Amino acid sequence: MTDYTDTARQILATNDRGGYTVPTDRLYPFQWNWDSAFVAMGFATYDVPRAYRELERLIEGQWADGMIPHIVFHTPSDTYFPGSSVWRTHHSIPTSGITQPPVFGLALKRVHDTAISQGLTDTRRRSRILYNAALRWHRWWYAARDPENTGLVALLHPWESGSDNSPAWDIALARVSTTTETTVARKDTGHVDAAMRPHDEDYRRFIHLVDTYAACEWHPERQWAAAPFKVAEIQTTAILLRSGEALLEFAREFGLDSDAQQLETFNARSRSALLAQWRPQLRRFVSRDLISGDDINAPTQACFCPLLALDLEQTMLEAATAEMNDWSDGLSVLFPSTQPTYSGFEARRYWRGPVWAVINWLLMDGLQRNGKDAMAEKLRRSTVLAIETKGFAEYFDPLTGEGCGGLGFSWTAAAYLWFLE
Ligand code: DGY
Repeated sequence: MTDYTDTARQILATNDRGGYTVPTDRLYPFQWNWDSAFVAMGFATYDVPRAYRELERLIEGQWADGMIPHIVFHTPSDTYFPGSSVWRTHHSIPTSGITQPPVFGLALKRVHDTAISQGLTDTRRRSRILYNAALRWHRWWYAARDPENTGLVALLHPWESGSDNSPAWDIALARVSTTTETTVARKDTGHVDAAMRPHDEDYRRFIHLVDTYAACEWHPERQWAAAPFKVAEIQTTAILLRSGEALLEFAREFGLDSDAQQLETFNARSRSALLAQWRPQLRRFVSRDLISGDDINAPTQACFCPLLALDLEQTMLEAATAEMNDWSDGLSVLFPSTQPTYSGFEARRYWRGPVWAVINWLLMDGLQRNGKDAMAEKLRRSTVLAIETKGFAEYFDPLTGEGCGGLGFSWTAAAYLWFLE
């Protein structure tokens, strides 16, 4: 075990709050949905029972309709805004009212496969409970967020993408009012340099959306009708499809034929919908703004996430990877969350340019799936070097390599452990 591996494990231990892991102390003092899925895969490299526990604690927050919220507020903390009282949800354990990228199914499969390879007891029972929760969530995604069966699932809040202030939302979010019923009392800028975080105006819009959906009592159909922000999103759909493939393997292994049939239908629909979002002249995939009906042409990391769940034909693959190489030219760390030559690029501001280890993890998976092993290896080495040079930061400046945002970050530690496997 290297010193860095040891540090990564220590970070996960320090951020453990009793079977679940906070992303980092104070800035994010609760359990976050997709963070926990990545963290579970990190734990799977050395402590599989703890990896299961991470996922089990997350589904304590699952709603009756199947939605798994983006935050589970297991224990109170006053270091974060918006806390549970802003969300006004009605779950027995306080949660937020929106969701986050469904990495869960993919994580569960990896935890399960590791448990099987180690011959651990109780594996099938634990996996089966988590599989049921994941399938209920996938059904929720397709019912609540794709009511017209297009195959692309929609986000009603930028936070649901995990890429909060991405340039991808600039046009769609500008339509959302900056007025709020809730007082916006940010805490994040007390923990992290404001120049690395979203602007106040973004926050007013984020909270306007929370107020709007709380007024709908978080009812999916009322939210769908009231939503001033509605984006059919390719990164989320790709993750959902990749997790859907994992769930299909479970359904077959467990002999659950009708589940398998339903998952095949979901997966086939999303696969063809994602493929239809390819734009040859841009050499990338695009999301769609469902309110204007327009393509979202802002160049972000999401444009390459469909590789995760698609087996691309050669021309498309060569074009997408050539585009990725162009974006990477001259950078200290790969892969930027926004194309560096784009007007909206900001090297240190959260999702407007910085490199995120977990995005690299998804991109690497997609590149490997499509036979681009050398490029995946380039991303892996770049991420490992950034972490070993600058520490386990939340994200990295692609121009200078500087570690930015929160420090001692759980998902960066988890990614490091996975990358060293
Ligand atoms: C935040 O508060 O910064 C989160 O990204 C929202 O989940």
